[in-house]
Amino acid sequence: MAGNVPVTQSLDDIYPQDALDIQRKRWSKLLSSFKDAYGRPAEFVSRSPGRVNLIGEHIDYSLYEVIPMAVTADVLLAVAVSPANGTPTVRIANVQSDKFATRSFTLAQDGGVDIDAKSHEWTNYFKSGLRGATELLKKHAVKGIGQLNIDILADGTVPAGGGLSSSAAFVCASALAVMRAHGQETVDKKELVELAVVSERAVGVNSGGMDQAASVFSQRGSALYVGFQPELSARTIEFPQTHTPLTFVIAQSFVAADKHVTAPVCYNLRVVECTLAARVLASICGLKDLPDDSSPLGFSLRSFHDSYFKKKGAVGDDVKDFRSQLDQLVHIVDNYLPQEEGYTRQQISDLIGTSVDELEKRYMTKFPVRADTFKLRQRAMHVFGEAVRVLKFMDLLQSPTPSNEQESEELLKGLGGLLNDTQESCRDVYECSCPELDELCKLARSAGAYGSRLTGAGWGGCSVHLVPQAKVEAVKKAWEEKYYKKHFPDMDAEKLQDAIVVSKPGSGSTLFQVAGRESL
Ligand code: GLA
Repeated sequence: MAGNVPVTQSLDDIYPQDALDIQRKRWSKLLSSFKDAYGRPAEFVSRSPGRVNLIGEHIDYSLYEVIPMAVTADVLLAVAVSPANGTPTVRIANVQSDKFATRSFTLAQDGGVDIDAKSHEWTNYFKSGLRGATELLKKHAVKGIGQLNIDILADGTVPAGGGLSSSAAFVCASALAVMRAHGQETVDKKELVELAVVSERAVGVNSGGMDQAASVFSQRGSALYVGFQPELSARTIEFPQTHTPLTFVIAQSFVAADKHVTAPVCYNLRVVECTLAARVLASICGLKDLPDDSSPLGFSLRSFHDSYFKKKGAVGDDVKDFRSQLDQLVHIVDNYLPQEEGYTRQQISDLIGTSVDELEKRYMTKFPVRADTFKLRQRAMHVFGEAVRVLKFMDLLQSPTPSNEQESEELLKGLGGLLNDTQESCRDVYECSCPELDELCKLARSAGAYGSRLTGAGWGGCSVHLVPQAKVEAVKKAWEEKYYKKHFPDMDAEKLQDAIVVSKPGSGSTLFQVAGRESL
């Protein structure tokens, strides 16, 4: 999957056939609004999509593999650049100017920009992409950093706080725009993902790399298998041919899940819990002086996993070995992390052999968390169990093409069962679901879905469902009548229509050359 971000002049390369009409109108409007706003045409559009995660929830920051895919909804940034004869300035506006106010800010001479991570300001995502891209430009010794004025008009269709990773789409599109603004027409996908992951952490969330990888690497029609250890990697996975095509339906809970707002008690707390579980397990198993890894806090359950079996002399490259290792790790957690009620800071410090002060400084300062106890047992159990489910899901996707309807049905039920198991673990063990998401899943299953679960960070946001094509209407109807109309009686038809999306896997980041083009 290595290679450069594709550059195109045709929307056919970006969107599926049935989306083209709507997209042409949207893009034309964006480009003409750009001209109205800035008095000059846009030169290029940088585009990055949202994603839906099929399986592998909350394990990317523990460096385990995940299987997401891009959706059609995306972020577009129309851009024009000119030399800054004075202080370099960025002007940035949004087509939804009532929701996202127009801003302008200046850059330091070295291209740097201040980000106030405490304020929930939409342009922070642009700034974080800009900051990351600037670092990369410096690494490549590109000339002209801090010498440009950049005008931008943004148009995003990934719902903010809706669980489809609008933030990663925005940061990836921003970083790509800044690279291109500095004349970089070839942008390496892996470098873009890596910089976007680090950049997004600058706006207050310790996220893993799944969203950015899905946004950049995805290819139309396929899911993505993303790995993080020993380094970031991604490959496409074709869906098997089944008698009824695999259909994933995405349903919004409309419970706002802004992971930046709730980070200290939700997302960032889980990152700390997983890291501390890894530290405690390593310490109990006598693993000392382990090097830092690429996870947000520098040590992950995956690094514990690898070091533990390396010490035992196991190789573990084989998938079967790997799965049996994960099963063994579940037993280790069961034996060595028995406290259902969680562990206090003092208990964890004693187990690791450090002081509470040191513990807080090392793991809870960059991103503060609020908790008296840390549920190490449950979090580690979820991570190892979910890593096994990803392997099983992958096995099923790669199994021989079913030769009859019954085999097809078994395959689909197998995939659906794994989605259901993930939901159960997210709800009961990892505690990242919410009653509304549970309800959507229950309703879908009763109306015929093979499997249903939350997708993304959880605590609201979105859910994903594997549904037989013939049952899609029944599932939609169940949600409309028993969920949306019940919880949101005032919801208008347009919002209701946006609530449910039958999503085909979409394409990843793209640079679109506008210059010289009369029409789209
Ligand atoms: C968010 C993060 C991802 C991932 C998911 C949970 O979307 O940004 O990195 O951790 O939550 O799987």
